[in-house]
Amino acid sequence: MRCVYCMPAEGVEFRPHETILRFEEIERLVRVAAQLGIRQVRLTGGEPMVRKGIVALVEMLAAVPGVEELSMTTNGTLLPDYAKALRTAGLHRLNISLDSVSRDNYRQITRRDMLPQALKGIAAARRAGFEQIKLNALAIRGLTETDIVPLAQFAAKEGLSLRFIEFMPADADGRWCPNQVLKAEEILDILRQAMGPLVPEVCVDNTCKDNASPATSYRFVESGIRVGVIRSVSAPFCDSCNRLRLTADGRLRNCLFSDQIWDVRAIVRSDRDDEQLKQVLRLAVSRKAKIRGRGDGRLTTCDRPMHQIGG
Ligand code: 5AD
Repeated sequence: MRCVYCMPAEGVEFRPHETILRFEEIERLVRVAAQLGIRQVRLTGGEPMVRKGIVALVEMLAAVPGVEELSMTTNGTLLPDYAKALRTAGLHRLNISLDSVSRDNYRQITRRDMLPQALKGIAAARRAGFEQIKLNALAIRGLTETDIVPLAQFAAKEGLSLRFIEFMPADADGRWCPNQVLKAEEILDILRQAMGPLVPEVCVDNTCKDNASPATSYRFVESGIRVGVIRSVSAPFCDSCNRLRLTADGRLRNCLFSDQIWDVRAIVRSDRDDEQLKQVLRLAVSRKAKIRGRGDGRLTTCDRPMHQIGG
């Protein structure tokens, strides 16, 4: 896919195979991270299923001691082929990106006429019995307003959890601008007008135990339908963010918007031991900024488009 907010229409530079981490290298990094207490691992992209041998990678990572939750972010179009095998290999959760349920709008946003495949993928995922399937929809002014209500209705009908994400300055070709951000409050207003009053979900038991989840959840008073919003721009959640990102070419990042990047591929490919990797992982965590970016309070944009870091 070539989603307009993330990738150019053509001319994506493919990286030579040797620059991409091998499965053994990824597994080693995850094993060392797990020894330091990391419990959740997510495979993102690009599109993770285009990586040859993805099922084997999932199997390797699911077997790493300490990894309690393995999930994947995907556009869903390859799930008809892979859902069952991934589940069997040990993948627990899926986040499926679905910005529209209108075939025309979906094609306009992704530059591919693949909504039918994505929907088949969602169905395949449900049959495969994942512990959790979430739908993620990016909200962009002038592009996705009319998709919001149909998406909420689709998710409700399917019984799937849906979150709308505010458009972040991570498109790297520098075309993002603040007025493209459809803020959570505006998204909620659109939903209210069509589907009635909404209230924030109060957490009564431990159903909200994932307190590092960036989403705030709401419920429609009349129908009981739930919907989440991720205020990535209007209310950044840096103070509760617990993520590290490892890019396909072996760079460790502690924030999408930070220019602090550690070359862990170089360490893995030298004869240095796991202790060196632990030091870098600890350093990256300790340098996570309280405010997005360099930590000096300035909102920075991302130096790489999302497809090169992972959403
Ligand atoms: N802001 C917010 N979300 C984004 N995604 C891609 N680019 C952006 C951005 N600039 C989302 C995609 C997908 C996930 C991988 O990241 O919509 O759901």
